[in-house]
Amino acid sequence: MKPRVYVTRNLPQAALDILAAHCEVALNRRDVILTKAQLIQKIRGAQGLVCLLVDPINEAVLASSPVLRIVSNVAVGYNNIDVEAATRRKVLVTNTPGVLDNTTADFAFTLLLATARRVVEGDAYLRAGKWREWGLMLFTGHDVYGKTLGICGLGRIGRAVARRARGFDMRLLYTDAVRADEVTERDLGVTFVDKQTLLRESDFVTLHVPLFPETHHYVSTPEFRLMKRTAILINASRGPVVDEQALVKALRGGLIAGAGLDVFEREPKVERGLLGLKQVTIVPHIASASIATRTKMATMAAENCVAGLAGRRPPNLVNPEALG
Ligand code: GLV
Repeated sequence: MKPRVYVTRNLPQAALDILAAHCEVALNRRDVILTKAQLIQKIRGAQGLVCLLVDPINEAVLASSPVLRIVSNVAVGYNNIDVEAATRRKVLVTNTPGVLDNTTADFAFTLLLATARRVVEGDAYLRAGKWREWGLMLFTGHDVYGKTLGICGLGRIGRAVARRARGFDMRLLYTDAVRADEVTERDLGVTFVDKQTLLRESDFVTLHVPLFPETHHYVSTPEFRLMKRTAILINASRGPVVDEQALVKALRGGLIAGAGLDVFEREPKVERGLLGLKQVTIVPHIASASIATRTKMATMAAENCVAGLAGRRPPNLVNPEALG
């Protein structure tokens, strides 16, 4: 008998085909997120679960299907899943690393350029019919080339951002819990510094740390106080890495000059104060959203799920302890 898999949201057909070849698939075809109660009810009897980063997979959800063997997240970040609880239950957890690095780095750079050069403001101004004549200082912003970029978290995405920044002749600082080896530092042209030095010296600070208890509010008022008043903050990691209320205050008080944000603390809610600030570029968590990358993420998640249910080690296993 084929194992049963529940999929919390419609996926590209290529991913559904992979699942259907090996599993009996039940799918939430409606383009809405399931409530916790619906999730608990829907996954009963499922051995596999393919879910999105908006699905909170906690103890109660895991407990609702005692036969559950694998939770396959269609995302690289897996802070939506209680991995400890899953491991206790010997439920495998997988994610989709690697495939989205370049797409996400492209987008972090898009936010950086758009915010520095006031692209969204200029677009809104023109569409509103306000452009009467060319102006020497109209929408003047901040240069990017030659400036200092501080990368917080030199993982796969942080490194992809560094490679792009070199094309803009930027000076590159980075900070991380673990320092990279000499060859990597030399190849990327990055200099390791502590967090305080990075914040003090950078013109742009870009966040690429995963969300863990230690990185919750990694940037808050003390950090904004250290940053240059001309600095721009970019966040394409996870919303709670930045204290959003403190960010609004820092922007209003002129502690920093701007922000480019893909992610928010309470998605899809956004701190109201941010919406009125024109020095902020805000988009709805789309950094990895190219057609090719999102499709690949879905097929990777399907392959992880199929492997786990077939008794093989899934290629992107987050909690190998659950195998024992
Ligand atoms: C997107 O945010 C991801 O974690 O894949």
